[in-house]
Parts: sequence; structure tokens; C-alpha cells
Amino acid sequence: MTDSLKNIPQHVSIIMDGNGRWAKERGKERVFGHFEGVESVRAVTEASVELGVRYLSLFAFSEENWNRPGEEVSALMELMMKAMLGEAETFRRNGVRFVVLGNRARLSDTLNATIDALMAETASNDVLTLILFVSYSGKWDILQAARRFAADPDARDEDFANYLVTAGIPDPDLVIRTSGEKRLSNYMLWQTAYSEFVFTDTLWPDFRKDEYLSALREYAGRDRRFGKVK
Ligand code: IPE
Ligand code: IPE
Ligand code: MG
Repeated sequence: MTDSLKNIPQHVSIIMDGNGRWAKERGKERVFGHFEGVESVRAVTEASVELGVRYLSLFAFSEENWNRPGEEVSALMELMMKAMLGEAETFRRNGVRFVVLGNRARLSDTLNATIDALMAETASNDVLTLILFVSYSGKWDILQAARRFAADPDARDEDFANYLVTAGIPDPDLVIRTSGEKRLSNYMLWQTAYSEFVFTDTLWPDFRKDEYLSALREYAGRDRRFGKVK
């Protein structure tokens, strides 16, 4: 039950995995799994608003995912664009600020324009910040940050995180990965230094509110020590 949940994380991040396998289990094309995965995005976004999670970040497309067959890449780009085009009104109603982070230079002009429009339209919403990582790689992020950090003579070591694309966003308290894989796959390498991890065998298209609540319950029972003695 929602009301029994304590210790709600400020920032939940999800590595949404298993769409292809979900489709395969049903004898369908992989893209069918991606399509159904959008419904899971809606479900966890809505639940996050309800529960008071302030930041929800989702790994939607990695730098390495560019190496998938062209057909799947195009289908994913189109799907993201369509999903964004339909969401502005729901975001306004729920107070959702939408942000895309990653190597935007690799995205098409039309997708970039759609992203810019939705980010601008939702910029002043402040209930939940929904971050979509697209064309993102943790190593790329650290490298681009290091370059800018090194070029700034006034930069102090403790401010390094301000050069990452996630500047201003608190580090994830909880990272959830679906589909049984237990790896980071080049996701937020710096920012997850002290994150709690929950791995579930559930495939992303089947990950809905109940699964989300059970991950949050697991998190609530964790003892975060940050290297100290309690
Ligand atoms: C996650 O599902 C979505 C992306 C990585 C874009 P996958 O497409 O990786 O699905 P599986 O892991 O092959 O089942
Ligand atoms: C990680 O999933 C990337 C996203 C969820 C966007 P992958 O399916 O690409 O990861 P690997 O290849 O199994 O590590
Ligand atoms: Mg996968």
C-alpha cells in the first residue's frame, strides 16, 4: 500500500531493460516491447508524482544503443518523439518538468526541436522532474565534464559534479534495473557512487505501479552509511 511507504527517495533512477525479450516471449517484433514500455513510463511517472519522489530519471537510449540495427534505432527515435508530442498536457496537469540529458548532437533536428519545445513548455513545473537519458554514456559525461573543468582556472575539486550533464540534480538515491541484468551498462558512473541498487527480473513492459512500490519498499529497508559508523 502506498500509505505504508516510508523514506521516499528524492531521486529514483531506472535502467529500463527487457523490452526486446518481452516482445520475443509473445512472438512479436522487438519494437512492440518498446511500445508497451511507454505505458510503464507513464505508470512510474504517475506513481512518482503521487508518492512525492522529486526526481525520476530513466535510461532510455545509451550511446552504445546506436550500434543496434538501423531499423530498431529509427523505431526508438520515432517512438520517443511520438510519446513526447502527446505528453505536454499531462505534464502540465501533474506539474512535471521534463528534461533530456545526453549527447544531443547525435539526435535529429526534428527530435531536438520536439525536446526543446517540451522542455520549454514544462520548465516552470516543480512537482516532479522527469529526466530522460538519451544517447547517454557515463564515460562520455565524465569526459566532457573533465574537459570543461580543466579549462576553468577557478574550478574547485568539490565542484566537479557541476560540470556533468546532471549539474543541479541530486545524485540518485535508488537505481532500479529491470530484466534480471545486474550491471550499470555505462549509465551514471560518477553520480551512482553511493546509490542503492534494486534489481528485479521483471521485464520493463511489465514493470508497473506494484513493482515500483515493491522496489521502494526494499529501498526503505536499506541502511545507508556513506562510509561512516552509525
Ligand atoms: C530496453 O530494452 C530498451 C533499450 C535499451 C533501448 P532492450 O531493447 O534492451 O530489451 P532486451 O534487453 O533486448 O530484452
Ligand atoms: C541499457 O540496456 C541501456 C538502456 C536501458 C537504455 P542495454 O540492453 O543496452 O544494456 P546491455 O547491452 O544489456 O548491457
Ligand atoms: Mg537490454
